[in-house]
This record gives sequence, C-alpha cells and structure tokens, in this order.
Amino acid sequence: TEHDAGAANIISATIGATVPTGFEPTAAEEVREKIGVDVLISKDRGRIYFPITTDKLFQVHLLRSVDNLFVVVDSYDHYSFKESKEETLKELQELASKLPWTDALEVWRLNRSFKKKKGYRKGGAGSKMKPSNEAGDAAAEEHDLPPAAAAEEKVESGADVEDSTEGPHGAKVTKFRVTCSRAGDKHSFSSNEAARDFGGAVQEFFQWKADMTKFDVEVLLNIHNEEVVIGIALTEESLHRRNISHFGPTTLRSTLCYGMLRLCKPQASDIILDPMCGTGAIPLEGAIEFSASFYLAGDNNEMAVNRTVNNICHIQKRRAEKGSACGLPIDTVRWDLCSLPVRTSSIDIIITDMPFGKRMGSKKKNWDLYPSCLREMARVCRPGSGKAVLLTQDKKCFSKALSRMGGLWRKLHTVWVNVGGLHAGVFLLKRTASVFGQTPEDVYESGGAPNAQE
Ligand SMILES: C[S@@+](CC[C@H](N)C(=O)[O-])C[C@H]1O[C@@H](n2cnc3c(N)ncnc32)[C@H](O)[C@@H]1O
Repeated sequence: TEHDAGAANIISATIGATVPTGFEPTAAEEVREKIGVDVLISKDRGRIYFPITTDKLFQVHLLRSVDNLFVVVDSYDHYSFKESKEETLKELQELASKLPWTDALEVWRLNRSFKKKKGYRKGGAGSKMKPSNEAGDAAAEEHDLPPAAAAEEKVESGADVEDSTEGPHGAKVTKFRVTCSRAGDKHSFSSNEAARDFGGAVQEFFQWKADMTKFDVEVLLNIHNEEVVIGIALTEESLHRRNISHFGPTTLRSTLCYGMLRLCKPQASDIILDPMCGTGAIPLEGAIEFSASFYLAGDNNEMAVNRTVNNICHIQKRRAEKGSACGLPIDTVRWDLCSLPVRTSSIDIIITDMPFGKRMGSKKKNWDLYPSCLREMARVCRPGSGKAVLLTQDKKCFSKALSRMGGLWRKLHTVWVNVGGLHAGVFLLKRTASVFGQTPEDVYESGGAPNAQE
C-alpha cells in the first residue's frame, strides 16, 4: 500500500539542537513530552541530542526550547587529535570522504519543506519591523550571542569559486559552506583552519560549490575539547526569533522565555505578570504557548510599552492573515513596578527579567530597585501558592535583597544561564504563606522599625 511504501522510506537519525545554556534539562523534558524519545544532554553545554524517525521530523520544528537544529552525520566522544597541526588537518580532510553522509543528507532533503526560511523576520510587514534607531538598539541582538561566546571561536569557510551554479553538464550544483565552532584550549589548529581544510575535502568529495552566503547545505563541524560532532544544519535562522519584530536593547530570546515559563508550569486560568516586560518577549511567548493563562505586561519606560504593544499587534496580524484565531490573552500597561495597580494577593505567577545593571539600569540603582521590587511582587502574589521566576545577572544584589525578604519568598531552585555572554541566574521562588504587611521586612520598608533591616 501507499502507506507501506512510505514507511519503507522512513529513516532513523540523530537530531542535535542548540538550546539556551542551563536550560538543557528543560529542553530535554520538552522533547520527551512532545516527541516521546529519550534525550542525551551533551557535556558541551547548550546542546542536546535525540533520536527520531523521519516521519516525526516536522515535530522537531515545533519544539520551543531549541535555537538551532541539525542532523548528526557522525560523532566522536574522544577524538584523538594528532600532535601537529599538519597531521590533524590532514586527518580532518580524510575524514570528509569517510563519513556516513547518505542518511543525514536524506534527512536534510526532507527537512527543506519544514524549515523556516531565512529572512522571515524581515519579510511581511517590511520596514516597520526593523528596530528603531534610538540609542541601545545597536545592542538589540546582544542576547543572541552563542553560549560562552567569549570562549568559543566560530568561523565559516567556503573556498572562493566562480559565481556559476551550473555544473559542467548544466545540472544544478549544490552550494555549501562549513561552519566550525571550536571550544577547548588543547587544539593545535584554529577553527578557521579546520573549516577551510575540512571544507576543501567536502567540496572535492561531493563536487559541491562553496558559497558563504547563498548555500544550500551548511555542514557543521563542532569541536569541544575531544568531542567532535559533524552535522548538517536543519535551520537557517535560530528559532528563537519567532515572536519579536520590534527589538529593544535587551530583548530576551524566545527560547529562554519558554524555558522560564516552563519552570513555573502555568496552569489554566493563572494570572501571570511581567512587571518589567521590556519588549514583552516573556508574556508574548506565554500568551502563545501557554494560552490558557492570562498575561499582564508592564514597564515604566514608554518606549518599552510601545514596543510590547507593537509586538503583540504584529503577532495578532500574522495570525489574522493565516486565518487562525487572533486575540491573545495579554494586556499591556505602563506602570512603576514599585506601586503596581494590581490587587494584593491576586497574581499566580510573576515572571520577569530584571535590569542587570549593565545594559539596562545601573548596579547602584539595583540596590534600591531589587528590595522594593521583591516586596511589591510579594504584595501582589498569592501567599502560599504564588511563584516567581526571576532572571538577573546582579546575583549579589539579588541574594542580599532576597535574604531580607525571607519571610515572604522562599528560593526553590536556581538555573544558571548564559545571556549574551553574561553569567546570570534564573531564580524560582515560592511565595510563603505570610500575609503581606505583617512580616518585619515589609513593615520596615514601608517606614517602620529601622533595626528590622538586619
Ligand atoms: C532587562 S529589561 C527586560 C527585557 C525584556 N525581558 C525583553 O525581552 O525585552 C528590564 C526592564 O525593566 C524596566 N524597568 C526598570 N525599572 C522599572 C520600574 N521601576 N518599573 C517598571 N519597569 C522598570 C526597564 O524599562 C526595562 O525595560
């Protein structure tokens, strides 16, 4: 039957995915839940691997925790690099012709119908979607740096070949590039050299044409200490760019927002608050992925509020064009988080990305902001069951503020993440059962006994 014929073509493959560092277990949980397979978390932080059969390939593109996807051609846990650079590079060249490419290339072929096209973000509403020009927007993509950007080299290589895509017999020639990312200090070669020599050998083996920008196939050479993984990219653009069209100076990647949301397990009819929403990345991801809850997004900066509104409108418009239900469960307000226009004990979950004091705000301001922020959040959050998931890089200030609020918040769990090269913490807090206004800390802060500070 047709079904059997289809089944005969099903291939098994290993998929690799890059995920926000620190959120590998969350991503693994999502894969287990949505695809039903076990996941290997690589020691190379920020990567996970899992097996699929090609009939499930489309599901891989529905994962919300993953930034980039690739199919594994081959992998070595303990690749023994030769001592000298020349020998090592020669061996990498030889490797290109020995690799089991066939199935991985078949997965790549099948995948072309699922992947999001490059430039997607820039299409559609066109110029309106470009970031505005005010100061700070140059850094709009700073959160997009690869994990451990500082320690890792990443280069692309494609030998210079003339511009024709026609082969000698008029057949279309496949264009490719090799992207090498390398981490580890015991290598005798650079990423550049590895990409160049491995790329040269790939070109010779397949008779492909190297092209750095308009490539069909992107071969990945990932080297992390003695771990080597060769893959073929299945995404052209990171999947974290899915929601935001109006970027701000510290827009959080949607994959990280999704990880934060998963940490607090939104339930139907939960009211979820982001009191410092910036461009609205967190509540917007929530309203799309956990749409049985309601989201309140606010910021004291007018530009931020406008961006959030624009980002929401843009998604609504996209949905309307597709004919799917518009109407996201989200509202936006301009407010000061130190006095929220929200009833005491009315919020189930607070989830926010606090000013780090580097790109946004200042460390000095944080010493005032963090305690008043934790206090006001404790006021609006439901005692006994309410939760907060807070991201900050100013860990010292945060811990100090939290220790003063011990009567109102209890720390359950910390996830250490890398946000644009900065080491940050995601703190999962639970609201204690104490009624607000009765613990020494909030009495003091609202003008009571000064010695309650300690
Ligand atoms: C790190 S950014 C949030 C970025 C956001 N997650 C995004 O993806 O765009 C912190 C935000 O806190 C806001 N903020 C700082 N102090 C505030 C206050 N007192 N009340 C409300 N928002 C405040 C800033 O305007 C800024 O947008």
